[in-house]
Amino acid sequence: MTPTEQSISTWLPGPILGIETSCDETAASVLSENGVVLSNIITSQHAVHQRFGGVVPELASRAHIESIEGVSTEAVNQAGLAWADLTGIAVTQGPGLAGALLVGVNYAKALAYALNIPVVGVSHLEGHIASAWIQDSTFPMPCVVLVVSGGHTHLYYKERIGHCRLLGATRDDAAGEAFDKGAQLLSLEYPGGPAIDRLARQGNPEAIAFPRSYLKKGSLDFSFSGLKTALLYKLQAMNELARASQAADLAASYQEAIVTVLVEKAFAAVRSSGAQALAVVGGVSANSRLRTLLQQRAASENLRLSLPPLAYCTDNAAMVAAAGKQALRAGLCAALDIDAQASLA
Ligand code: KG4
Ligand code: ZN
Repeated sequence: MTPTEQSISTWLPGPILGIETSCDETAASVLSENGVVLSNIITSQHAVHQRFGGVVPELASRAHIESIEGVSTEAVNQAGLAWADLTGIAVTQGPGLAGALLVGVNYAKALAYALNIPVVGVSHLEGHIASAWIQDSTFPMPCVVLVVSGGHTHLYYKERIGHCRLLGATRDDAAGEAFDKGAQLLSLEYPGGPAIDRLARQGNPEAIAFPRSYLKKGSLDFSFSGLKTALLYKLQAMNELARASQAADLAASYQEAIVTVLVEKAFAAVRSSGAQALAVVGGVSANSRLRTLLQQRAASENLRLSLPPLAYCTDNAAMVAAAGKQALRAGLCAALDIDAQASLA
């Protein structure tokens, strides 16, 4: 229990509103009492940040303020409900951009106060992890969960609800960061992951031998900073014409170096932990090449795999509502002095 949590003796299960504002997506979603996603509204700020090549925190906060009311209202309307039908609110408390988180947390608190229903703060990471069960409620635990996003590359052993053991993590860049920084070097648009994914489909993943960092034998940690430097050196050694004509091969080979390490380490974690199932979640799990390799490997090893639909891979509020539902069911809720926690683990 975090300091802001308290116990609720009776929570009447019913529809939950999830709210997500940790970075550059304003999202709201309503989950039914039995976990069905009734609405999943996402407003992306990509157009706001595109010309800066990355998220500008102050602009993100302002854009969240402009969108939060409309996005939440649309989520409730699209679910076919009235505000009074909601029985709880879940909001991302951290980690993320402080100002951006504050918009969601304060909106959730005000709404909970007005509707006289509990609010619960959830970790963005717990949300991504919960996304593995949104469409596959029978997905088993214990399992290994690989969280791959813009800020995290974390491997967990998830024994049961509320219990995760960290098996490995990135020592430098996250996988999403490696995609975004690589895309910047390749002069592709922001956000870089989807741009590399698209371009790579026309390229040869074996064309350029980029380094794959496995670290020392048995390690379940990751490192992607060397790969980014290798791409930089490769581009510096090419003239403009070569860079343009080999753009697709560069993207495909660079992507391959990221995703093969993710696949190898995820399956190594499954082997060493003895788990019978693997879930891969977070924005990078939307990557088409990663999805193909994971599906092929899982099929050949007869392993149960959960790969959430694309709408639940990148930031969304259905995953926040799903994690919040678990907390409310466990009898937890937040006091109304709950605050954003930018560096929440
Ligand atoms: O989970 P997410 O939406 O936000 C964070 O929690 O960070 O993940 C965003 C990351 C970005 O780095 C983005 O480039 C990456 O996920 N991403 C992808 C793809 N779609 C999003 N990376 C590779 N291929 C994709 N298709
Ligand atoms: Zn995320």
